[in-house]
Amino acid sequence: MSRQIRVLVADDERNLRELIVRELARRGHEVDGAEDGVAALERIRETPFDVVVLDMRMPKKEGLDVLRELATFPEPPQVIMLTGFQEVSAAVEAMKLGAYDYLTKPTKIEELDVVVRKAAEKAQLVRDNVALRAHAPGAAPFGGLLTQSARMHEVLRVIDRVAPTDSAVLVLGESGTGKELVARAIHEHSPRIARAFVPIHCGALPREVFESELFGHEKGAFTGAVGTKPGLVELADGGTLFLDEIGEMEPDSQVKLLRAIETGTFYRIGATRPRRVDVRLVAATNRDLAEAMKSGEFRQDLYYRINTITVTLPPLRERRDDVALLARHFVEANAKYGLKRLAAATLAALESYAWPGNVRELLHAVERAVILSKGDEIFPGDLPPEVLGPNAPAAPSASGSLESMERQHIVAVLRQVNGHRGKAAALLAIDPKTLYRKINSYGIVGVEFR
Ligand SMILES: Nc1ncnc2c1ncn2[C@@H]1O[C@H](COP(=O)(O)OP(=O)(O)OP(=O)(O)O)[C@@H](O)[C@H]1O
Ligand SMILES: [Mg+2]
Repeated sequence: MSRQIRVLVADDERNLRELIVRELARRGHEVDGAEDGVAALERIRETPFDVVVLDMRMPKKEGLDVLRELATFPEPPQVIMLTGFQEVSAAVEAMKLGAYDYLTKPTKIEELDVVVRKAAEKAQLVRDNVALRAHAPGAAPFGGLLTQSARMHEVLRVIDRVAPTDSAVLVLGESGTGKELVARAIHEHSPRIARAFVPIHCGALPREVFESELFGHEKGAFTGAVGTKPGLVELADGGTLFLDEIGEMEPDSQVKLLRAIETGTFYRIGATRPRRVDVRLVAATNRDLAEAMKSGEFRQDLYYRINTITVTLPPLRERRDDVALLARHFVEANAKYGLKRLAAATLAALESYAWPGNVRELLHAVERAVILSKGDEIFPGDLPPEVLGPNAPAAPSASGSLESMERQHIVAVLRQVNGHRGKAAALLAIDPKTLYRKINSYGIVGVEFR
């Protein structure tokens, strides 16, 4: 971000407020102070801020009440809550109300600076998104699909445009990248929303069973066909048929599907009378269909029918911004096991792992960690070993010690600047030589921050 980040610091403790204002200003931000909740809201109404640092306990209006009111502002700033050690549940409440993050007092100024920068990036993304939505009147937000990555916003833009049409859409992406979620989003943003979204897995069943599921069958069409059964295409009439793992479909079935698409009609197995349906097709696969066409496993004519529009989901390792967002979301989604938060080192480890199983793997790793973690913080040791990697150092033994907090902080800052030692030293306000010494003495390795 080229322009200065505009920050408002709302805290009733005058010394602390002035210190934070001064230190953040020294780090290049444009900073103002407010001495209570009411004053903060007034200031925000007058001037737009990117980020507000909000003390939880303040006279006149508490932090949470300020947060609630901010939610009604047309372009609310990103909020970082400052809380006491005993206020974790209030902090969780704040996150639910839309706060960007929270820090417990006493707060390290370097850490606050890192979070302020991240929050400002988010604020920028939100503004871009608001602008984007303004061009797509009537578009609702994408319920289940969480993202703050620029590449995914590109994808959402395509979905936005294609969803209201009847075009067939082919969704590509590695396993666990969210293809089914995208297919549902397309359905939910189409005029077909009131009708069914019908998924069928094209590779899970033997060919005969698959075809009778898809097209239905007449009584006596084959052994075991004791009654008539409508196919899934009929259930999807007026709605959306989601052909999942279409790359796995057998050649014979491909022919039948192609014929159905081309004529808009199909036959139940054993039927002599064709039936007509109005179905929108969304297909997905993690296979390379171009390869499959070359080897003759996938029909080219079917390929052209199903991919009027292609949506390609980037793997999670190519949108690392999303790791923290999704991880925090999954932590919250598992709050039934306890209200937890991710330690900085845990987040750093999550962000540096390659996630071959993408969002699904992250979901499982976080769920497991939430269940395994003992206190209300999730440490790297709670993560599956493959996430930590072969070079991972043993988890710090005294995870609450000053040393381990410093270590975690250094890793988090290194993450923030993609491992650039000079920048990290500047952010930490220490000499680069000192940083090198600390990296060595803490045994911090590349996988933790790259
Ligand atoms: N952007 C996202 N925000 C929230 N949850 C997500 C997101 N992407 C994926 N998920 C979740 O991750 C899991 C996997 O997503 P999904 O089933 O859509 O992946 P897929 O690409 O269809 O995977 P596969 O190829 O293995 O079928 C689901 O539980 C889904 O809800
Ligand atoms: Mg899937």
